Amino acid sequence: MRAVDIIQKKRDGGELSREEISFLIQGYSRGEIPDYQMSAWAMAVYFRGMNARETGDLTLEMAMSGDQVDLSPIAGIKVDKHSTGGVGDKTTVVLAPLVASAGVPVAKMSGRGLGHTGGTLDKLESISGFSVEMERERFFAQVGEIGAAVIGQSGNITPADKKLYALRDVTATVNSIPLIASSVMSKKIAAGADAIVLDVKTGSGAFMKTLDDSIALAQAMVDIGTQLGRHTVAVISDMDQPLGYGIGNALEVKEGIETLRGHGPADLTEVCLILGSQMLVLGGKAKDTDEARGILKEHIADGSAFEKLKVIAAAQGGDVAQIESPSKLPTARRQLEVKAPADGHIEAIQAEEIGIAAMLLGAGRETKESVIDLAVGIVLSKKVGDAVSTGDTLAVLHVNDASESKVKEAEAKVLEAYRITDQPVTPPPLVYAIVT
Ligand code: URA
Repeated sequence: MRAVDIIQKKRDGGELSREEISFLIQGYSRGEIPDYQMSAWAMAVYFRGMNARETGDLTLEMAMSGDQVDLSPIAGIKVDKHSTGGVGDKTTVVLAPLVASAGVPVAKMSGRGLGHTGGTLDKLESISGFSVEMERERFFAQVGEIGAAVIGQSGNITPADKKLYALRDVTATVNSIPLIASSVMSKKIAAGADAIVLDVKTGSGAFMKTLDDSIALAQAMVDIGTQLGRHTVAVISDMDQPLGYGIGNALEVKEGIETLRGHGPADLTEVCLILGSQMLVLGGKAKDTDEARGILKEHIADGSAFEKLKVIAAAQGGDVAQIESPSKLPTARRQLEVKAPADGHIEAIQAEEIGIAAMLLGAGRETKESVIDLAVGIVLSKKVGDAVSTGDTLAVLHVNDASESKVKEAEAKVLEAYRITDQPVTPPPLVYAIVT
């Protein structure tokens, strides 16, 4: 078998066999197939696509390229939740304790933020002492003892995906549905969950900007999960504006805490209830999403979900006093208001622009090596549908050490992100579809 023949077959619209996909992925993983051939192949897939069988085979080959976590020592149905990435998306901070308090074990491996999107590990590390590194035995033991643990990806999970994703990033081949679907699902399969709830973001701040593309991506991932014996459900949720109000690590943890205490933003609370309900049903703790929703609301109302966050934080070395009093979390020295330039109604808030503005202030990473400031970020004062008058505060920048030019740039980005119209605006739906 030769890589060039496989590239040519895909370039001409052919269907690759399992053996051909395995040859490419395992060969690339071992360093036997060079980047330039994988780039050509990725571009061929970008234009020609892959069918469900090829996408499933690609997923399995990438999952098998490294360690595969066996979660079977943990009792119960392990349900993973994965978001395709958004701005202000702190759902894991809420869902890990919330779902665990309702009895579904959460063995979560999360990631760090890059570019305009944040990462759960960075957010949790804004709680002093919170450690996201742990030996696998300790990870299993913690989930067994208290119902949840959130850690960084340990070991050698999907090295083929890691290498291929970095290559796609610099060859304009990220935005391919079979490549994204197999990349996401290979990590989920290797991480060992029995069932998977996917939060597929759609809109200006998401990979997929249109609803049709988002549904196609969701369907591709659900098909892979089903093919590989993992019950998978995808929720298509809005990312045409940031989720909640806070963007930036400690700011997002504060909002997550408010949500667990029952007074979080309505959109964040609702998205968490929808995702959490799916997790409870897949985890066998509720017969349908109506029952699940009732259980989750009860665990928020009686304080057990909030208590669970404290227990998780304590187990991972985090300062529980900061969770009890979020004003003790890292706080930026300066707060700068961004004012509305016109009267009207908020028509849109480009989530990606807001994410980039937060990154410029130091909340996110421009490159993998960037050092972030956990305290800084942006708190929106207005969301889509709100009325504004000239001079009203649209958002507040939380600033520490960013240079004045970066602060100016961030402010300009926030202003650019907000679109104001003189017509009343109905806010977009939070969830567009559920793909099963
Ligand atoms: N996230 C991933 O893990 N992979 C992709 O290809 C895109 C987003």
